[in-house]
Amino acid sequence: MRMRFKPYARPELLASPLHAHTPLENKGKWHQVFARPEQPLHLELGCGKGGYLAELSSSHPENNYLGIDITDKVLVLAKRKIEQAFEAKGLPADNVQIMSLDIERLDSAFDAADTIDRIYINFCNPWNRKAAHKKHRLTYTRQLILYRNFLKDGGEVYFKTDDDGLFADSLEYFPEAGYEIVWKTFDLHQNEPDWNIRTEHEGMFTEQGIPTKALIAVKRPASAEELEKNLAARIAREKAEAAKRREAQQAANQKG
Ligand SMILES: C[S@@+](CC[C@H](N)C(=O)[O-])C[C@H]1O[C@@H](n2cnc3c(N)ncnc32)[C@H](O)[C@@H]1O
Repeated sequence: MRMRFKPYARPELLASPLHAHTPLENKGKWHQVFARPEQPLHLELGCGKGGYLAELSSSHPENNYLGIDITDKVLVLAKRKIEQAFEAKGLPADNVQIMSLDIERLDSAFDAADTIDRIYINFCNPWNRKAAHKKHRLTYTRQLILYRNFLKDGGEVYFKTDDDGLFADSLEYFPEAGYEIVWKTFDLHQNEPDWNIRTEHEGMFTEQGIPTKALIAVKRPASAEELEKNLAARIAREKAEAAKRREAQQAANQKG
């Protein structure tokens, strides 16, 4: 369901110390934004309404967290949920920030000096299911290669999705982008790990009977040449598949 424009969202975010107003200016300096800069820094990409980030950050004051989403409409709800979660636990919300940014442009706001320990990607469904839009997936090979620029060596990506096709493709994207998949499940709730926190979308899909697929991948050493070669091979493969689909469509049109 499309969420309505919220005219109050931007002013409320700009008035909040939880919101990073000028993310590009923090490039290379993200650790310094937090009360305890020496702590590990974790990112949540596409944090949405923030239920996950609020619970995670208020349960782990020993880490710093940054939640990123493209739209203020959801970030303003994330801000409120974070405030509530910390208030309920009687803790200062000094280890969490949220910000508005297009994840495809993360390199404009992060570099190697930001040394990220972990990235969470939860239910980042593609905007559009057409094959041409696969390259906008947050786990597409090119995106995962981009995250390497600021993810520590040995840093982790935690990924969850409801989408079978996206999960199956991601099992290929991660190794191509120089990550080792160290754990995976096709039904997270069958034997739910105690570290799991259910997100808003996870709750919704679970109610619909759709299993949550999940994996943990670790950044391994890889040369730029190896990664470029893998990405070029993926793009070439997808182009060939698209050409085949077009030919089949043309043949079907001629018949009909
Ligand atoms: C389906 S929602 C999932 C929200 C939350 N992670 C959850 O599991 O409930 C996907 C979120 O990712 C955000 N998103 C998708 N693509 C993005 C991009 N390129 N840059 C920033 N945010 C993006 C959307 O705005 C949306 O809030």
